[in-house]
Amino acid sequence: MLNVVVMVSGGGTNLQAIIDAVEAGTITNTRLAGVISNNKNAYALERAAKHGIPAACVSPKDFEDRGQFNQKLLETVDGFEPDLVVLAGFLVVIPPEMTAKYRNRMINIHPSLIPSFCGTGYYGLRVHEAALARGVKVAGATVHFVDEGTDTGPIILQKAVEARQGDTPKELQRRVMEQAEWKILPRAIDLIANGKVKVENGKTIIEEPTRSGQEASL
Ligand code: GRF
Repeated sequence: MLNVVVMVSGGGTNLQAIIDAVEAGTITNTRLAGVISNNKNAYALERAAKHGIPAACVSPKDFEDRGQFNQKLLETVDGFEPDLVVLAGFLVVIPPEMTAKYRNRMINIHPSLIPSFCGTGYYGLRVHEAALARGVKVAGATVHFVDEGTDTGPIILQKAVEARQGDTPKELQRRVMEQAEWKILPRAIDLIANGKVKVENGKTIIEEPTRSGQEASL
C-alpha cells in the first residue's frame, strides 16, 4: 500500500479527482493517509473531511518566521509517514530539507506542458494568461517529481489540450483541468503505487508496455 499525503491550498479539485479514483479503484494499492493545507479556508479541507481523510492545516501566518513554519510543515508531513507526497495546487515554497528528504517521492501537477510556461511566477491563472498571450494552439498539464528548482524535476506524465481561439484564461484553465490534470495526476499516482515509475539520469522511465509518458494526443 502506498501511503499518500496530498498538499493543497485551495479548491482541491485535483484532490477530489484523486479521492474519486481511489474510491473507484482506478488508483490501486493506495491509501490516502492525510491532507495538509496552508490555508484554513481551503475547500479542499472539507473534501477531505467528507471522505474521512485526516487533515491538518499549517499556515505560515501562525509562525514568527519561515524557519519555524518549515519545521512544522515537515513534521506534519512526516507524521503521516507518507511513501508519496502529492502537491495538488500547493502554493507554498517547499522547504529544501523536505525536497531532499522526499526526493523521487514527491510529485507536483503543473498546468502547462513543461518546459513552457513554468518556473517562478507561473502558477494558477497566470499560466493560462501567458499561454493565451503567446497565442498557443496546444496547452496541457504535466506531473513531475519535485526537485530543488521550480517545475524542473523529472517529468512523469504530460497531456496536451486544445487551446481555442477566443478562450479566456478561465476557460482554458477549466479545460486543462478537466481534460488533463484530473486524469494524469491520479494516473501518475497509480503508476507509482504499482512500481511502474523509475528515475534514471534525471528522467523517468515508465514501465508499462502499452503506454508512454504522453497520455493521449489531441
Ligand atoms: C491546478 O490548476 C494545479 O495545476 C495548480 O493549482 C491548481 C489547483 O486547483 N498547481 P485545485 O485546488 O486542485 O482545484
